[in-house]
Amino acid sequence: MSDRHARRLLGKVVVVTGAARGQGAAEAAALAREGARVIATDVTEAEGIRPLDVTDEAQWARLATELGDAHGHVHGLVNNAGVTWRARIGEVSAEDFARVHAVNVTGPLLGIQHLTPLMTAGSSIVNVGSSAALTAHYPVAYTASKWALRGLSRTAALELGPRGIRVNTIHPGFIETEMTASAAPAFRESNLRETPLGRTGTVDEITPLVTFLLSEDASFITGAEIPVDGGSTAHGGAKSISDALRPGADTREAP
Ligand code: NAI
Repeated sequence: MSDRHARRLLGKVVVVTGAARGQGAAEAAALAREGARVIATDVTEAEGIRPLDVTDEAQWARLATELGDAHGHVHGLVNNAGVTWRARIGEVSAEDFARVHAVNVTGPLLGIQHLTPLMTAGSSIVNVGSSAALTAHYPVAYTASKWALRGLSRTAALELGPRGIRVNTIHPGFIETEMTASAAPAFRESNLRETPLGRTGTVDEITPLVTFLLSEDASFITGAEIPVDGGSTAHGGAKSISDALRPGADTREAP
């Protein structure tokens, strides 16, 4: 890693939510390697983690007060905390639908509301969406929440742009974490079939983009949405057609 890259976030105060494990933990470590002063938060207790339930407004308010007192400002926020709930439309309850929305959408909203008063021009927010935010992924509460997060991100980019604060969204595909470890084998297999790169992703393939978006290297990028998904959302369902028509099958006269 070059010196320039090692110093991309030197001295920047960055809050990461859901940082006790998975992508959030990897993001917190990567940002610290770039010189950031990372406040790694989570509702799950872990060493080096500051407790924060993203759905609890009073906790966000306390965090903002603490950061204001300690640092005076915040340069970055990674709204990474998220939960899934694998119920379909016929079975999902209104309570579960609301619970997922509270973590995946209201949490990022509260983070933006409470931390942006501490942000100055050049600050950056990264919201962690999902390939579910670009498709009709079957777990409806999760999918609807991630689509809503896109709307929040776009509106926040619009509203915060005049203050020089950037807001971008990343859309991970199937990334190996505890979240995906709990998925059914068929979920993994069908994901692989739909992914042009033919494999799942790792947390270390997410962190470079998060670091980039928080840094000055991305100084003119806001309101953007970037998939990190091995191409799974790019083909719009056409991969199975392409695969079925590969050379070897006599399909040249098919439509
Ligand atoms: P994970 O389940 O391993 O980690 C999520 C973290 O969020 C956990 O540490 C958990 O304690 C925390 N969290 C949950 N509720 C919280 C709350 N109310 N307040 C604070 N923290 C809370 O999941 P993973 O894979 O690391 O997910 C990170 C983000 O990436 C999530 O937003 C998820 O939706 C998204 N994502 C994950 C994908 C994957 O394949 N793993 C694919 C697409 C998106």
